[in-house]
Amino acid sequence: MNTPLIFELSSRGRKGYSLPKCDVPARLLDQTLGAANLREKDASLPEVAENEIVRHYIRLSVMNHHIDKAIYPLGSCTMKYNPKVNEVTAALPGFTQLHPFQPAHSVQGALQLMYELARMLAEISGMDKVTLQPTSGAQGEYCGLKLAKAHFDRIGQKRESVLFPDSAHGTNPASVTMAGFQPVQVKSNDRGILDPAALEDVLDDRIAVLMLTNPNTLGLFEREILRLTEMVHGKGGLVYMDGANLNALMGITRAGDMGFDMLHFNLHKTLSAPHGGGGPGGGAVGVKRLLEPYLPVPVIAREKGNGEYCFDWDRPYSIGRLHTFYGNFGVMVRAYTYLLMMGSAGLRQIAEVAITNANYLKERLKERYDLPYDTVCQHEFVLSGDRQKKQGVRVVDIAKRILDFGIHAPTTYFPLIVSEALMIEPTETESKASLDQFVEVMFQIADEVEKNPDLVRSAPHNTPVGRLNEAAAARELNVNFSD
Ligand SMILES: Cc1ncc(COP(=O)(O)O)c(C=O)c1O
Repeated sequence: MNTPLIFELSSRGRKGYSLPKCDVPARLLDQTLGAANLREKDASLPEVAENEIVRHYIRLSVMNHHIDKAIYPLGSCTMKYNPKVNEVTAALPGFTQLHPFQPAHSVQGALQLMYELARMLAEISGMDKVTLQPTSGAQGEYCGLKLAKAHFDRIGQKRESVLFPDSAHGTNPASVTMAGFQPVQVKSNDRGILDPAALEDVLDDRIAVLMLTNPNTLGLFEREILRLTEMVHGKGGLVYMDGANLNALMGITRAGDMGFDMLHFNLHKTLSAPHGGGGPGGGAVGVKRLLEPYLPVPVIAREKGNGEYCFDWDRPYSIGRLHTFYGNFGVMVRAYTYLLMMGSAGLRQIAEVAITNANYLKERLKERYDLPYDTVCQHEFVLSGDRQKKQGVRVVDIAKRILDFGIHAPTTYFPLIVSEALMIEPTETESKASLDQFVEVMFQIADEVEKNPDLVRSAPHNTPVGRLNEAAAARELNVNFSD
């Protein structure tokens, strides 16, 4: 943690990069920005030589964990390896030098990419139309629920509640509330999935939507899905699929074929854009024809006559805009690149390998850790640290100890219905050697819990910082070193 800030490395006159001379005439700058907004003095930027910059950021990059260092089995997050070719395409000047206010005829390539990406996502999910505007899974959920609200308002039905199972991600009930509905939780059965009988108990014609994650956050496929979607439709309601776990489904089955009316994708997970740390994401939403009139504006469309790509703003029933401009374009370029690279056979292979990897890890780890739902899983599974808790070691301690081995910890304490939950998602991009290394680490920690629990309780020992007050780090963030 003694690494200096880039400003502290600064020394007058050093140059790592020289900005090109401004080629915009001063007169134009005055006119466009206004004289009062022009800088009088140079900005106070650090002055550092190129090698110092490179060393500084390399040093910082290895202090934290990232997917380019080692396995990142963070359940529910699909931290797969992000192919570098995605970065090459996203950095093409034809994409990066665009301005969102440019007229449509001058950005045909970008519009074509968005149009085709939306079509591919519609095909993958069995939906009729896709918007790329939402910028996270959570915003996708909010978008879908607003579409449902617009639909029921238009047909004059007052439906107040949205159902979701107790295994749902926290963003589900939060989005329900934000969209102006009442959240109603339904209990999963002892197999970890939603039972038609439990749905029957709460279903009536005041229910607007059933939100389901499939496979769910226990990594289990909702086996009753056809019956469940049919039941909701029978009462005039809609069914939303939280598609954050699409990595297990692609090329195998589709939300539309299971009876869902809408879903969101997490482009930043499933389709390999880097994510984490609140970075830009992509929460595209797909809908069946019924909900298409309400999609956010603008919709990327094609002119009837000449086939030119255009922005369609003329949508009287639209819920409006959800984001400035058109969403996170860079994430779309990465997703598009990835889809073209994988092809349809590749997408199925992704899902199959992700499922195989998860089942391999599950079968090996259940020797030393409790497995509450001992069945074939999809792309992830949830262990319980109850056995280790009896030795006075909590799952948070195990997670901290894993960091000592240069591996990111799995998700802990989620889903809430498993006590001492450790949620593990290896993804398809890890080799057997990397999975085996993770198993060895987990077995060593299980031994330590029995023989030297203090070692685990006091972890981490090898990381640049020890246990931080994570709540304060988020809520009272202070990035100013001089304070
Ligand atoms: C099942 C599930 N739903 C929704 C979300 C929310 O997605 P985002 O983090 O992009 O808002 C997540 C994120 O982890 C998730 O795992």
